[in-house]
Order: sequence, then structure tokens, then C-alpha cells
Amino acid sequence: MSDHIKKIIIAIDGHSSCGKSTVAKEIARKLNYIFIDSGAMYRAVTLYCLRHKLIENGSVNLPELKANLGKIKVSFRFNPDTQHNDIWLNGENVEKEIRLLTVSQNVSPIAAVAEVRRLLVALQQEMGKSKGIVMDGRDIGTVVFPDAELKIFMTAQPDVRAKRRFDELTAKGEKVSYDEIRANIIERDRYDEKRKESPLRKADDAIVLDNSYMTREEQLKWILCRIDGI
Ligand code: DC
Repeated sequence: MSDHIKKIIIAIDGHSSCGKSTVAKEIARKLNYIFIDSGAMYRAVTLYCLRHKLIENGSVNLPELKANLGKIKVSFRFNPDTQHNDIWLNGENVEKEIRLLTVSQNVSPIAAVAEVRRLLVALQQEMGKSKGIVMDGRDIGTVVFPDAELKIFMTAQPDVRAKRRFDELTAKGEKVSYDEIRANIIERDRYDEKRKESPLRKADDAIVLDNSYMTREEQLKWILCRIDGI
């Protein structure tokens, strides 16, 4: 199964907190592909903006952000302990910090800035040059890799997603409220779908995976079957 010689690009887009990265990571491991969490890149830029007060109370200082874009260096480096790529921002491992709720609450307006998207999309396309990559995000099948051989649009019911994210953050020791998380998920989806720049939408040739009532194993099997069909 899935013993493709020819390396392909797998684009996984979809709603917030429906487990895209978890599944993408497992597929990449199975196929010996690179896994890239493009959301982590938008989160890292958001972290930079928060630290430098380029976003305050949800409002972005656009001229300053544009002037500072050249100073924001985002990259991935392999972490031998976790066997995954961590995200680095200007020489610092920020893998943990970018998952904080404050970053989630500020990332949407940053991800809506055209210049930020241009910068990150160029980096993402570079990473996929040799194929053999699984990338998850919001615009991977529509903008970053419109010719990807396999496009999946993942979703799940908002309550299911909020519960999963709540459990994940609570397990990490973050003090969060379920209602706050649910509100953030719904707000981010709305923002991602309504924004002018590369809004979240299903590519015409993407296949939908609603994983509300699926286990991780079932999702993995579902995707591997599609890969076998290529
Ligand atoms: O996948 P995530 O929740 O970590 O992504 C964080 C935010 O980044 C998300 O709210 C929308 C934005 N994003 C985007 O606009 N385009 C992508 N390719 C990936 C993420």
C-alpha cells in the first residue's frame, strides 16, 4: 500500500482545529515525506508582531509591519527528540509559544495581510519544489499548490473541534475556557472565509473529509486509500 515511487504533493486545507496537522504529520511519516504546517508560519509572524507591538487590540500597524517584513525570518528545523520539524523565528525555537491562545486570537488579521501571504507562500512553494510533501493550511490546494496531485478539504462540527482543542490545551496545562475556545474557532473560520486575500475555500478538485466521528486511524486509512487511487 502507498508504495509510490513518484513523489506527489498532498494539500490539506480546511477549518480551524479539525486535526489537519495531526493527520498530515502521520501521512508524511508513513510515506517518508516532508510535513509542513503552514499555519505555524502565520503564527510565527503573529508572534513577532505581538512582541514588537505591530498588532494591538486586534488592529495591525500595517506600515510598520510592511517595513519590518524583511526582518522576519521563519524556518523549520528538524527536532531529533520529537522527530518533527519545529518552527523557528529569527534563530529562536518558537514551536511551543505559537500555540498559545493569545497567538490564536491575533493570527487572523495578520494572515489577511497580502504582503505577509506573499512572503510565506513563496517560502512554501520553495519547500515543495521537489514534491514528496504534505502541507496543511487554508490555501494550499487553491493558491500554494494548485496542481497538487491530492487535495483534501477537512472539516468537523464546531463543538467537536472545540472539545478537541480544549482537551489539548488543558493537557498542556493552559488555563482556558471551552466557550472562549469555541468562540475563537468560529471567529477564525469566519475571518478566514471572508478575507479578501486567499480566503479559505474548498478547491474544486478537493475531496471533503468530515472527521467529526472518525478516529485517527480511520482518517489515515481514508487518505491512504485516496493516495493509492492516484
Ligand atoms: O492551522 P492554524 O490554526 O495553526 O492556522 C493559524 C491561522 O493562520 C489560521 O487562523 C488561518 C491562518 N492560515 C492561513 O491563512 N493560511 C494558511 N495556509 C494557514 C493558516
